[in-house]
Amino acid sequence: LSELKARFTEACLKAFEGTDAALNQEFAANFDPSVTPAKDTKFGDYQCNAALGLTKKLKKKPHDIAAQIIEHLYVSDLCEPPTIAGPGFINLFLKRDFIEAQMVVMQKSDRLGIAPTDKPQRVIVDFSSPNIAKEMHVGHLRSTIIGDSIARILEFQGHDVLRLNHVGDWGTQFGMLITYLKEAYPDALTKSDALALGDLVTLYREAKKRFDLDPEFKDASRLAVVDLQSGQPEATKAWQLLCEQSRREFQKLYDALDIQLIERGESFYNSLLGNVVEDLQQIGLLQKDQGALCVFLEGFTNKEGEPLPLIVQKSDGAYNYATTDLAALRYRITQDKADRIIYVTDMGQSGHFAQVFQVAKRAGWLPDAMLVTHVAFGLVLGEDGKKLKTRSGDTITLKSLLDEAIDRAQIDIEARNPEAAEAFKQEVAEAVGLGAVKYADLSQNRTSDYRFSFDKMLALQGNTAPYMLYAYVRVRGIGRKGEIDFDSLESSQSIHLTTEPELVLAKHLLQLAEVIEAVGEDLFPNRLCQYLFELSQKFNQFFEQCPVLDSPEPERTSRLCLCHITAKTLKLGLNLLGIKVLERM
Ligand code: ARG
Repeated sequence: LSELKARFTEACLKAFEGTDAALNQEFAANFDPSVTPAKDTKFGDYQCNAALGLTKKLKKKPHDIAAQIIEHLYVSDLCEPPTIAGPGFINLFLKRDFIEAQMVVMQKSDRLGIAPTDKPQRVIVDFSSPNIAKEMHVGHLRSTIIGDSIARILEFQGHDVLRLNHVGDWGTQFGMLITYLKEAYPDALTKSDALALGDLVTLYREAKKRFDLDPEFKDASRLAVVDLQSGQPEATKAWQLLCEQSRREFQKLYDALDIQLIERGESFYNSLLGNVVEDLQQIGLLQKDQGALCVFLEGFTNKEGEPLPLIVQKSDGAYNYATTDLAALRYRITQDKADRIIYVTDMGQSGHFAQVFQVAKRAGWLPDAMLVTHVAFGLVLGEDGKKLKTRSGDTITLKSLLDEAIDRAQIDIEARNPEAAEAFKQEVAEAVGLGAVKYADLSQNRTSDYRFSFDKMLALQGNTAPYMLYAYVRVRGIGRKGEIDFDSLESSQSIHLTTEPELVLAKHLLQLAEVIEAVGEDLFPNRLCQYLFELSQKFNQFFEQCPVLDSPEPERTSRLCLCHITAKTLKLGLNLLGIKVLERM
């Protein structure tokens, strides 16, 4: 597709050379010839709508423009002669021998013929980011799953990705926690293993209760915040203890889900917060509002239509979440040298990020060319469409959620294959259970809320992880049945697409590159899920209609090659979603 785009841009440039200087510059610089996969495959594999977009600028009929483009278009190595349809769409069918040649390329390459980007960027993906002393909740799980997949895709493209866990490990709540820790667990400060996270969550609750009810406790908490900020040893020790306990629990989840993350929590930016406020002051962006220092925002208003303030320092001198994000943004640009920054959190934080980005922009810290994106996602709901809860009505812990997915997958494998070795059953249950949770999340358009349903995500039919994993197992099974090592096919030069289902499958395989590219841009992993789902459907159609092992040569080898490329594509695609494939299940 990117090749086709380049060819079309080239053609436009040649066709309209000398017509309009401004236009020519556009062609040369950032022209988008709007080439897309065709909506209706009856008329072509790809279509180009450039002519329609150029009618105004060229003051000509789109049909004539299309004809002119075609005149200068060189695609005969890739496509059949292009045709013009409707008012001026250009339709293209890929040439069979081009598709065959591409299949050979995909076959030989462990990247399926997708070259790493020639413009590698330093990309920061800020994801997962739970809060210390609180249980990680399903929102954090979503962030973890989506963020990891986005990071994997960008890494595959050849970008230099920094995966940052912006944990909430700082703030006034620690005053209350430290005070309570000292009071309720006086020896916790000497014995380091005295608490488990279950206790920590209770501890948070208990501390909050004390804080709300007892003014003296409240005062002590305020002092503890000051102690912590000034690095007083006992307060620091208590804080570290809390962080370590949480970290250990978080890590269990990351290990289970195979997530790589570098922890760089809010506390990391602590020493930079003062500068943020000072610099904003100096630039003249700060105003005092009821004792708090804030920036009045453009385009954000309250009910009365007055501009909303973004507070960066409260009247008591404390900095907040926004101050930290401003400091982090600056640090990431100046120190990490990021070219692109991606934040993965729930939609509820869209306002926060838009405000932080705006202030950073107005302060001149965020260059126009920098891509900063809030990758927002919807809520996780229970099957009843309400907040996800356990049957007893408690909020669900992530651990129990994952355990249940694995347990259910275990029951399933037990029923299907009771004789299998324990280790094998365990491996399958984990891959299926965890894969199901991830896939269920990723296959949704992330901006919508999604209903968490074990039954649906573990179903063998439909757009689910078990279905996809089976598809892979089945394709690999063909090789095993024929006693053929798929990898040994990689030297084969002969792929002949003689029937329609083969062609349809091959064309779909060819689209992998453009799907990955699209996800790399707009950060919607559900596109990749959809692509893989359609791939397994197209493979099934091929497999139903085209005998593989029983057909004569050269079809046999050629079809085996198609199986191999399909398997490789499924494996890579699932891997980019953070899902491990199984050879048998
Ligand atoms: N800790 C926050 C929360 O639980 C998410 C942090 C997201 N990242 C950021 N740079 N603000 O809601």
